[in-house]
Parts: sequence; structure tokens; C-alpha cells
Amino acid sequence: MTLHSFSLLLYAFVAACLHVSAAELAWNSHTTPGSTTPTAFLPFYVPPGAKSYDSASPLLLYSGKWTELFSTTYVGKSLRQSSEVGAAILFVFTGSGIEWFGNCDRNHGVSDVYIDGLLAQSVDAWCDVDTPRKQQRIFWNYALEPASKHILKIINTGACRGTKRACLSSMDALVVTKGLVTKQPNSTPSSLSSLAPYSSRPPSLLLSASQPAEKWTLVQKGSTGVHAMQLAVISSTHALVVDKVEHNPLTIDGHPAWAALYNIDTHAVQPLAMKSNSFCAGGTFLGNGTMIVVGGNPVVDGGQTSSADFGDLNGLQSMRLFEPCPSSSVDNCTMYENPDRIRMASPRWYNTVVRISDGSAMIIGGSKKGGWMNNATVNNPTLEYFPPKSLHGSNGLPIDMPFLRRTLNSNLFPIAFALPDGTIFMAANNDTIIYDWEANTERQLPSIPNGVRVTYPMAGTALLLPLSPDNNYEPQILICGGSNVDDTKPGYEISSQDPASKQCARLVLTDDGIAAGWEVDEMPEARLMPDAVLLPTGEVVLVNGAASGISGYGNVVNQVGASNADHAVLTPVLYTPSAPLGGRFSSDGIPSSEIPRMYHSVATLTPRGDIMIAGSNPNLDRSEIMYGTEYRVEWLGPPYMAKARPQILDGPRRLGFGQQAVFKVRLPPGLVDVSDVKVALMDFGYVTHAVHANSRLVYLVATLSTNGATLSIAGPPNGKIYPPGPGWLFLVVNGIPSKAVHLMVGDGKGPKVDEGAIENVIKNTKPPQYEQSKSGGGEA
Ligand SMILES: *[C@@H]1O[C@H](CO)[C@@H](O)[C@H](O)[C@H]1NC(C)=O
Ligand SMILES: *[C@@H]1O[C@H](CO)[C@@H](O)[C@H](O)[C@H]1NC(C)=O
Ligand SMILES: *[C@@H]1O[C@H](CO)[C@@H](O)[C@H](O)[C@H]1NC(C)=O
Ligand SMILES: *[C@@H]1O[C@H](CO)[C@@H](O)[C@H](O)[C@H]1NC(C)=O
Repeated sequence: MTLHSFSLLLYAFVAACLHVSAAELAWNSHTTPGSTTPTAFLPFYVPPGAKSYDSASPLLLYSGKWTELFSTTYVGKSLRQSSEVGAAILFVFTGSGIEWFGNCDRNHGVSDVYIDGLLAQSVDAWCDVDTPRKQQRIFWNYALEPASKHILKIINTGACRGTKRACLSSMDALVVTKGLVTKQPNSTPSSLSSLAPYSSRPPSLLLSASQPAEKWTLVQKGSTGVHAMQLAVISSTHALVVDKVEHNPLTIDGHPAWAALYNIDTHAVQPLAMKSNSFCAGGTFLGNGTMIVVGGNPVVDGGQTSSADFGDLNGLQSMRLFEPCPSSSVDNCTMYENPDRIRMASPRWYNTVVRISDGSAMIIGGSKKGGWMNNATVNNPTLEYFPPKSLHGSNGLPIDMPFLRRTLNSNLFPIAFALPDGTIFMAANNDTIIYDWEANTERQLPSIPNGVRVTYPMAGTALLLPLSPDNNYEPQILICGGSNVDDTKPGYEISSQDPASKQCARLVLTDDGIAAGWEVDEMPEARLMPDAVLLPTGEVVLVNGAASGISGYGNVVNQVGASNADHAVLTPVLYTPSAPLGGRFSSDGIPSSEIPRMYHSVATLTPRGDIMIAGSNPNLDRSEIMYGTEYRVEWLGPPYMAKARPQILDGPRRLGFGQQAVFKVRLPPGLVDVSDVKVALMDFGYVTHAVHANSRLVYLVATLSTNGATLSIAGPPNGKIYPPGPGWLFLVVNGIPSKAVHLMVGDGKGPKVDEGAIENVIKNTKPPQYEQSKSGGGEA
């Protein structure tokens, strides 16, 4: 077992409540508080709210022969090690989690770790290097009863790989975590009294208030190991989790990882090597199934920190390629980066990426450097394509977008959806347009009603509602939540207690619909930073978010910990688009969570049909205080999960546009009435910062044979209705969906490549800090 596979034993993760200092400039490096010297990016880290015990602490009781080594590279300048079989360490602590740090190399071997008298794990501190890697996380468990006293015992077994002699066990430090305070204080500030759940609407108007509540489930299981800032399902078994560079518990190559592949069936996590800082990137699949993860953060910010510390590269122009990884073993799946040859033409932090009708990616907006609220100095009011296109004389270089100038300041992570006529809907700040990329024209749409702002840091969430041949794929946009806070105010005039918006606005994107304007509805609770997840049934689940404040951390007054937001909204709500206005929301039968999920939270549909909910981290680096860094995963199961469900047994793996395809299916036994048969083709999207880019549901024309065993479907008419690329197919019978099968929609070939435009991008652009960070020159 390697150090990496310890990650399989990651469990719940909990934290306690202390105080953290406010704004820090560094986004991606680490400077120990009170020091000006950046420290190396090693796994050892004491998050705010946790406590470290050095190997020399009198609270660690050693038995057998232990040798003490001294070096400034050890925690507390000392480390103890033993090669004696049976040599042991005993430590008594109170807390929810314990981490053991020590060395690893080829001379280290297996120790048995007991917690409260039970063998927790045999851990192997072997790693494939001669010179010991220091400050490595050898063992951790975050799933202990927080209020109880626990006994940790470590015994060197002497067992060792590749050699006969007894191997080493080493102790550098122990870190105890206290346990998250998940329950919020009951007190509601007076400014929020108007935000009390359901206050605006008599309960009788709620959709299913009079019907018996169907049973939803909410289960906490698994840990993402790296904080889940970005989330995308990549196969039937795995989701890609991407974070910023920070002290996550999961380790790769001797340093904390900032990306991982999460097995949604077994909950195992495998770290994924990344070169550049992915804070805050966007992403999409391309028409050939390759995923791109685009943009991010520079290495150095404000001259405060050193690039060499974290070993990451400037991510501002990063184009990361993740080739299709369909196997349930993800050992060989990699994130490819080659900034000398493959990069964006301009720097982008908080950009949105959408797949368009030719299977290529449109990369929209962002800011030219990391910061907070966008402004005219750092704004990148352009879009570009991957692979680069020569359009409107651009020859691969960015194309100007007046919309992104007009919508300053709160216009980062713009909302964008590819419409069924090939144009792109966009929302930023309080404004909306339709962008025709072939003509390079913007069509002004009505502004978001009531001045609500819906993009970072006043983030709402949005979806393209399901497209159906029944109404000729008439597109409708839904935008929920956000904030009315004035985006020209400085942070010190904005409070974490400023109320968020309850508004859900909906617009039919036809000439008549646009003339009629936005239809305004209200969620039961106000939400900033919600996540909207389409179900195969065509309903929408809204989860996560905060009832007050704005996105980000360290910027406003009345921060909670470092969070700019407060009053986590803990109850998911179901939105039924087809219900009449005033009766679309219901939380009946839906359990509330105890885990606040605010800034940097995510949620996605899985191929099983349930919802994976993860993340929340309004912090510069991992924190164990309110609102801490959240690694726990929750699974929200709609009532259909527990019912007898139809199955798709067999069928083609590729679905051509307009082409017929036949699938073998099985209906639940004893089903009498099969009048309601739908086939949903879905993209689960690339989720980050409340943006569910590429999220899509297209109903297909389908016929079920009379014996219920054969399903004939027609592929979507063209790439405008469903941009070519991967998709998930659900059979929905009487409102109950099957599990999904993974398909390639279109011809599976990549988007057209314009070599001239690629060369022009390479010739005319240079990542500003790439060479510097590659050579470690950022240390200067
Ligand atoms: C991963 O790569 C190794 C070495 O090329 C190969 O032996 C192994 O079969 C691959 N595993 C998978 C799941 O493809
Ligand atoms: C614009 O934003 C950047 C990045 O956050 C910040 O450094 C700069 O001070 C801002 N400029 C103005 C004029 O507010
Ligand atoms: C949108 O926001 C801008 C910038 O804060 C403001 O000037 C404008 O009046 C707002 N528009 C609407 C329709 O609320
Ligand atoms: C898909 O297309 C992109 C862009 O041309 C290319 O980099 C990538 O390697 C292709 N992937 C596959 C699986 O062919």
C-alpha cells in the first residue's frame, strides 16, 4: 500500500470554531501566520482550529527504543524513529480527527495503528525515494466521536517491502482536529427576519403540501480528499474533483493534491497530478469526449509569496486536457498540460466555458488576474475558442465583447448556455443577451428583474430548462438567487449579513417570450450561491447556498471565520417547471442537511440519478473553524431511487444526429400502464461557483415496443439542439428514470482544428509568468 491509497480511508471531516484573520493577499501559497517566510508545500499543516503535538511533546508516550533526530526541516526541529519490532507510541486526545505526520522513504515500513483499542489500519510509510520525504501524512482519521476521549496507539511491525531487515516507523507530529460546528446559531439578525423560510407564501400554495410527502434520502458518505471547488462526472463510476492549490489531506508526489478522481460507487479517491493552479477554472467536454479545464490563478500575487513553495505553475492561461477515462480503474488517467504549445490566448480567472454546436469550446470573460470583484483594470471583456478559431478576423486571438464591459463589476463566471438555434444565452451582473457567435452580434434581452445581480460575487444559479420536440425545443432560461447588493461598493461597506435574493426569474427565449419579459417567482428561502441540478424527470433541485452576504472570503465586514456569507440554507427545494406560477416549489419530504455549503460548494446529478453534493470552503487555505473547509460528500436521493426502476440493458454507445438507435430495456415487473415514456439525453455539466455550464436535458423522440423490451430512439436533430460530445441517456417511465448509460453524441470526432489559428496564438501570446514559475524564479 502506498501513501496515496491511504486516501481510501478518508472519511468524514469535521471542524471547530475559532477566529481567523481577514483579508490575505496570497491565493495559492502559504506563509505561516506571523512570519514573512513562505514555507514549503508539504502535507504537514495545522489548519485554524486544529492543534499540533510535536514528537518531543511529553503527551506522547514512547515505549521501546526510539532515536531522536534534529533538523530544522522537522516539525518542532525534531523527529523520533525506531526500527525495533514492537516499539510503540501512545497518545490520548479529545477530538474528531487525528493525523500522524512523519517521514517516508524506502527504509520505512508498516505500523499498526489502533484507535480506542481497535486496529484502525496497518499503514505503510514506504515511498520510492532514498532521501526521506519529510512532514508526510502517514495516517489520518476524521470520523471520530468529537466530544470523546480517544487513545491512539502506533506499533512498529518491522514489516517492510523489498528488504528483510526491520523497517522504520517515524513520528514527527500529531495533529488533532476538534470537529465542525455544523449547527448554526439560532439567532437571525433583524435584517434577515424577512428571510424566514416560507414567509412570503402561505403554505397552502406550496405544490405538494396537501399530498403525502414522498420520501427523499440525504446520506453523508465519503470524503473528496481535496476540497471540491469544481465537479464533473467523467464516467459511470467517477467524478473529477478540482480545487485550488491548498493543504488538502490527499497527497501526491509528497505534496498536497489539488485534484482527485472520486469513485461514486466505492467512495475511493485517487489524487490527480496537476501542474498549474486551477483556482478558479471552468471546463467542458469537447465534441470528441476530451475534457478541458481552463484558466485559473497565477502563482504569485501581490509579490507576497513564492512560486517555488507549492511547485505549481501560473494557471491564468492554462489549457488542461483530460482524455476520456471510461474504465472503472482510473490509474492511468491524467491531466495533460503543455503550456509551450497548448494555452489560451489571454489570461482568465473566473471564466465560463461552454461547448457549442460544432463541438468546440467557447471561453467567456474572466479577469486578467486573481482578485475579488471584477473591475475595468483587470476585466477580460473578450471570448476565445478552443481549439482556436479564425473568426471575424481574430485568427485565434480574443474577440471583444461589449457585454462584458457593460456589466462590470459583478460579472465574473458569466452564465452561458448554448441555445437550440446555435446562439448563446448569457447573463452577467443584472443583464442578459443572446450572442450570435457566427455573426458576432449581441442581442439585448430584458435585464434581470428587480435589479438582482446573478454573477460572482453576487452569484445566483441558472439552467436551460429541458428542451423537448413537443414544443419544437422552445428554450427557457431559469435564474435563481443572487443579490441586490450594490456592486460598486467597496468590501468594507458590504456585510455578510446583507440579505440575498429569493427571486427565480424565467424567460422564454422566443420573440414572443422576450417581448413578454421575465416571469418572476420566489423561492421559499433566499439563496446566494445556490446549485441547480436538473433531474431526468425534468424537475430541478436547488441545493446549497447562503441566505445572506456575498461570495468569496476575507472581503466584507462581519465575516464568519473568513466567509463573506452567512446563514447557510440547509434544506433542498424541488422546482417543478410545469407547475403553475406560485406552486412550483416544495421541500416536502426532503431532509435538511447539517452541513453548511456556501462559497465553493458544488452539486451534480450522477448516472444513478441521485445528486452528489460536496465542497464549501470560504477560506484561503484549509480551515477547521466556522465556516471550515468541507470534505464530506452528501448524496440526495429523490423518491424514485427507492422504487422499481426501468433499466437500459444494452445498445449502441454512439448516437448520431437524427439517427435511429435501438436499445434493449426492461420495465419494472408488473407495470400495467406505460403511457408516459420519455427518453432524456443529459449533460450533467461542469459545476463550479454556482455555474452549471453545459448542463442540459434534451428529450428524444422515442418509441417503446409493445412488449416493453425494445426502445427505439432518434438522436437529437443536430448539434445546435445537443452540442456534439458525451451524454447520458435515461429512460423515464411514469416519472421513474432508469440509471443512465454513457453515450457519445455526434460523430465522436474532435472539433475542427485550425492550425493557422493555433500557430498565431502561440506566436502572439506568452503566458506572463509561466517561464518565471517554471524556473522557480518567483522566489526572488
Ligand atoms: C495502466 O498502464 C499500465 C502501464 O502501461 C498498464 O499495464 C495497465 O494495464 C493500465 N491500466 C489500465 C486500467 O488501463
Ligand atoms: C481591480 O481589481 C484588482 C484585482 O482584484 C485590484 O488589485 C485593483 O486594486 C482593482 N482596481 C480598482 C481600481 O479597484
Ligand atoms: C444594473 O447594475 C448597474 C450597475 O450597478 C446599474 O447601473 C443599473 O441601473 C442596473 N440595472 C438595472 C436594470 O437594475
Ligand atoms: C479532442 O480534440 C482536442 C482538440 O483538438 C485534442 O487535443 C484531443 O486530443 C482530442 N481527443 C481525442 C480523444 O481525440
